[in-house]
Amino acid sequence: MRYRSMVQPKLIIHGGAGSSLKGKGGVAALREMLYGILDETYSLLRAGDSAKAAVVRGCQLLENEPRFNAGTGSVLQSDGQVRMSASLMDGTRQQFSGVINVSRLKNPIELVEYLQQERDRVLSDYGAAELARELQIPIYDPITDNRLQEWLQDRQDNFRRSMANVIAEPVEDEGKDDNAGRGTIGVVALDAQGQLAAGTSTGGKGFERIGRVSDSAMPAGNYATRLAAVSCTGIGEDIIDECLAAKIVIRVSDGMSLQAAMEKSFAEATEHQRDLGAIALDAQGNIAWGKTSDVVLAAYTDGDRHGDSLEANPGTQVQPI
Ligand code: GLY
Repeated sequence: MRYRSMVQPKLIIHGGAGSSLKGKGGVAALREMLYGILDETYSLLRAGDSAKAAVVRGCQLLENEPRFNAGTGSVLQSDGQVRMSASLMDGTRQQFSGVINVSRLKNPIELVEYLQQERDRVLSDYGAAELARELQIPIYDPITDNRLQEWLQDRQDNFRRSMANVIAEPVEDEGKDDNAGRGTIGVVALDAQGQLAAGTSTGGKGFERIGRVSDSAMPAGNYATRLAAVSCTGIGEDIIDECLAAKIVIRVSDGMSLQAAMEKSFAEATEHQRDLGAIALDAQGNIAWGKTSDVVLAAYTDGDRHGDSLEANPGTQVQPI
């Protein structure tokens, strides 16, 4: 195979962070679903595709999974509308593109991929919608029944909750803030040529004020260079305040190991009482995840073995190459 003489590709994905997986369809089912997406995405890397192409495909698959808060299954904002944000960073070219608060699209990551080649690389609501129409991307309604029910329930409760659930399934303890979610999806890949890329996509926090901007379309939430790549999940404001993705990557660029960069960044986030998680890879093929949230839905593979963080305690973990 092409990569045997080069680099063994690595892949890590996430489906959000939150406080509990209780009543969310079971850990085993989630693991099976995440591993299925990992395998399908990894097959591109195995065939010699670029990290960027694999990240886009992985994000599409996660956006298409209605249980996650991105693409189909995105949470509704305070006015009952879905507005999605996404970004892609090509580590080799150190080039970022993104869309902010875009509606009526199936896969925001596809628009973000197109923007990689453009002069204007980050577009917000109206501009992103104009571009989607120019590209003749079909109009699509990403609202699912579960997300609509969640919003209607919260309307009955006079919008008491500040966020939606991490997994879009009927919840047993509806209305409790301690069951709130911080949903996002993300993919980080290292390809056979040693190139890194990161992508992140979200429907936002859920029930938020119109015009609120997510970290998922900022370098705080998604960042990559030739040396490291990171995708974040959690409360966007917390991620922005820590500037988490860029901070981890820059620490690695300045000479820290990925493990040290993750440990220092998560120690700071814990001290500041942030609610977040991140997945990461470095150019040597080290795979890492970290979280201050109780749960982060991360899964990874080196092509031979799978691993995940579904039942792990808060903290950080780096898998050596
Ligand atoms: N991290 C997703 C958001 O807060 O929008």
